[in-house]
Amino acid sequence: MKLKLKIWRQRNASDEGAMVDYDIDGVSPDMSFLEMLDTLNEKLILDGEDPVAFDHDCREGICGSCGVVINGDAHGPEQTTACQLHMRAFSDGEEIVIEPWRAAPFPVIKDLVVNRGAFDRIIGAGGYITAPTGSAPEGNSTRIPKPDADAAFANATCIGCGACVAACPNGSASLFVSAKVTHLNLLPQGQPERTSRVMNMVEQMDAEGFGGCTNTGMCTVSCPKEIPFMSITNLNKEYRRAVRETTKARAVQAKANPS
Ligand code: SF4
Ligand code: FES
Repeated sequence: MKLKLKIWRQRNASDEGAMVDYDIDGVSPDMSFLEMLDTLNEKLILDGEDPVAFDHDCREGICGSCGVVINGDAHGPEQTTACQLHMRAFSDGEEIVIEPWRAAPFPVIKDLVVNRGAFDRIIGAGGYITAPTGSAPEGNSTRIPKPDADAAFANATCIGCGACVAACPNGSASLFVSAKVTHLNLLPQGQPERTSRVMNMVEQMDAEGFGGCTNTGMCTVSCPKEIPFMSITNLNKEYRRAVRETTKARAVQAKANPS
């Protein structure tokens, strides 16, 4: 395949950046999108040019690092990660526009690489459990209703890629946060932090500058792990519950210590 690429090039965080055109030949339809970028980079290096910086690690759709916007869609035309997208999804001679995630809380570091540290800080605010995990326990020692186990597992598949933010017109991180909250708040191991988790994660999400959810649904359509939109409904339910619990606890404390 021969392709015309238009790629966002930006030397560093303070550079203005611009789209740059590249022609590429000899692309196999069986290459992954990242292998196509590797091929371009080999040519750029041989020509003495700066290769295109892009993020990647597992190349198996599980680490969440390879996010790019392809022809206006987060991760491209299929509901998968860029590393699992194959060039057969495109036509010979096609023009492909490649950009980094566009969201203020994900500033560009270089070319297609953005800083997703905002997600790490949201996880640090509550995306964990404090119950000692030890070695793998016997499967039936903690009983969990099947619907809860299934829903927790479905939400645990979130890989923190950020496509939901990139696809959302508001730059909202609600789907990501809802996946983490739903996963952990459904399980017995997640109960000690159930209230503080949702309060702190939502507070951190707002502090990072992510937008609010207005139910456009673009997040779930772009999510490579098909995190359901209902998870955001659950996040809102968990948040309302946490506010009620926190208000009640404060009232009890005020009664006990009137001064
Ligand atoms: S919810 Fe989906 S799109 Fe958003 S970070 Fe998780 S896996 Fe990526
Ligand atoms: S490189 Fe890990 S998900 Fe794509």
